[in-house]
Amino acid sequence: MDRLSNIVILTGAGISAESGLQTFRAADGLWEGHRVEDVATPEAFVRNPALVHQFYDARRARLGEVEPNAAHIALARLDAEWRGGLLIVTQNVDDLHERAGARRLLHMHGEVRKGWCLRCNERFAWEGAMGEEAACPSCETAGMVRPDIVWFGEMPYDMERIEEALMKADLFVSIGTSGAVYPAAGFVQTAAYRGARTLEINLEPSQGSLSFDGRRYGRAGEEVPKWVDEMLG
Ligand code: OAD
Repeated sequence: MDRLSNIVILTGAGISAESGLQTFRAADGLWEGHRVEDVATPEAFVRNPALVHQFYDARRARLGEVEPNAAHIALARLDAEWRGGLLIVTQNVDDLHERAGARRLLHMHGEVRKGWCLRCNERFAWEGAMGEEAACPSCETAGMVRPDIVWFGEMPYDMERIEEALMKADLFVSIGTSGAVYPAAGFVQTAAYRGARTLEINLEPSQGSLSFDGRRYGRAGEEVPKWVDEMLG
């Protein structure tokens, strides 16, 4: 592939699995006895904010115990060395891509290390527990701060920039995602429709695996560095 080609990479929970973060849809998946509707919808936050905060506070704390793995590091190297267009779109709310050094990165489902004030609409970095009484660092109102996460029924972030990159893509690569959640699950079709080649790297065939031209099955920590070596080789 020409070193000036445009690449769009979509990542999901599978890329962070080898760092020790649970995926969503595995048997021991992250919802951990919680129904999605109880922790990941705006309605849940209105109904039981304490439970929702508890869930995301635990996930934020867990980030302090894990490190980027070989797949995050390989993508950061591709980002640094690829001379053409490149955009990493992650569905993950962890910060392992940026901690590995990735720069051309969008968090379409938000970030667990950020808060969002429903009073003044500011978004800001957040360390440690948030809890129900958190005060906004900008307007100082307490009790109106939520985790900056895109919940079910809400619009993912940066969709215009993502669509624009997909329209120009020569190669679309999907890594570690089950293809169960839209709109991300539809990116492969958009890219293919505009003429991009498409590649899936996952532990097993995803729900949309037949839409891809190329498929590589194995652990992201092995398959992604191999693929990046080929791209930069
Ligand atoms: P899933 O848990 O649905 O899928 C993870 C995928 O990663 C599965 O297909 C696994 O086979 C694969 N996988 C597991 N370990 C792997 C490894 N070591 N190497 C490579 N692949 C591996 O997670 P997502 O597709 O990211 O949304 O889920 C999408 C969205 O659903 C999430 O962003 C989240 C959730 O609801 C929100 O929170 C809004």
